[in-house]
Amino acid sequence: MKGVLKKEMLRTRVNPEQPALEVVNLTKHFEINGTAKSVLHKITFNAGVGEMICITGRSGCGKTTLLNILAGFLKPSAGTIMVNSEPVRKPGPDRCVVFQEDTLFPWLTVRENIAFGLKGRTKNKGYLSKEVDRFLSLVGLREFQHYLPREISGGMKQRVAIARVLILQPQVLLMDEPFASLDYHTRREMQDLLVTVWRELGQTIIFVTHDLDEAITLADRIVVMERGSGYIRQELAVPLPRPRKAEQTEYLFFRRKLYEFL
Ligand SMILES: Nc1ncnc2c1ncn2[C@@H]1O[C@H](COP(=O)(O)OP(=O)(O)OP(=O)(O)O)[C@@H](O)[C@H]1O
Ligand SMILES: [Mg+2]
Repeated sequence: MKGVLKKEMLRTRVNPEQPALEVVNLTKHFEINGTAKSVLHKITFNAGVGEMICITGRSGCGKTTLLNILAGFLKPSAGTIMVNSEPVRKPGPDRCVVFQEDTLFPWLTVRENIAFGLKGRTKNKGYLSKEVDRFLSLVGLREFQHYLPREISGGMKQRVAIARVLILQPQVLLMDEPFASLDYHTRREMQDLLVTVWRELGQTIIFVTHDLDEAITLADRIVVMERGSGYIRQELAVPLPRPRKAEQTEYLFFRRKLYEFL
């Protein structure tokens, strides 16, 4: 994988002290049969440049709603979101989303799916081709570049889904349970792949998961949301060196502590 990436794309930009994403007092009510249902209440947190933040909490606590608001797909009832100090009001190229279910174009090959977004942004065919090669290698799919989505596995599809948004180099990558439909081993492989890619590219990532082990494996910081109240229950830095292994004593200790906040 080394040598695949240009020098300027390495983690030199990373600066957790400099906020890439700032969320302040974000509140969301849904109107159901004339009654306001509160889902998010005064959610406030930051993500530094190059930080991996995991948002976790029980089913229904508002994780997907929060991510949809960050993506600009949903409007908040109150509060502000800034990306690189610019307010967010609608979807934009500074934020890309990877969903749980693959959203690949079924009639396009792996290569064409990865090229799709960048093709709309550049007329330079040489540059486009090189970039696609680079990201195919990064996610280990060069051999499968001419396959259609129906001819590859679920894990491979999610690699394509990740490569095709990373190639656009968004400021913030938003991921909503992207590995939830994968089997245990594939899921672990994808977590390792994501950490490797993230450490190479220095992307800011907001990763939603209800799986505590996934959050501990991936995150620099974990934000725990509370179901019912819509508050942030706790924010915890993960003080464990990478790679993180579930059998390490420190890992188990941290897991127990995190579990108390769910
Ligand atoms: N469009 C909507 N209209 C009304 N209520 C909604 C809407 N979208 C979400 N909700 C409600 O908001 C709450 C939070 O939903 P959300 O999907 O954000 O939870 P989640 O934490 O992502 O859950 P899960 O872990 O199951 O994916 C739920 O009670 C849900 O019913
Ligand atoms: Mg959800």
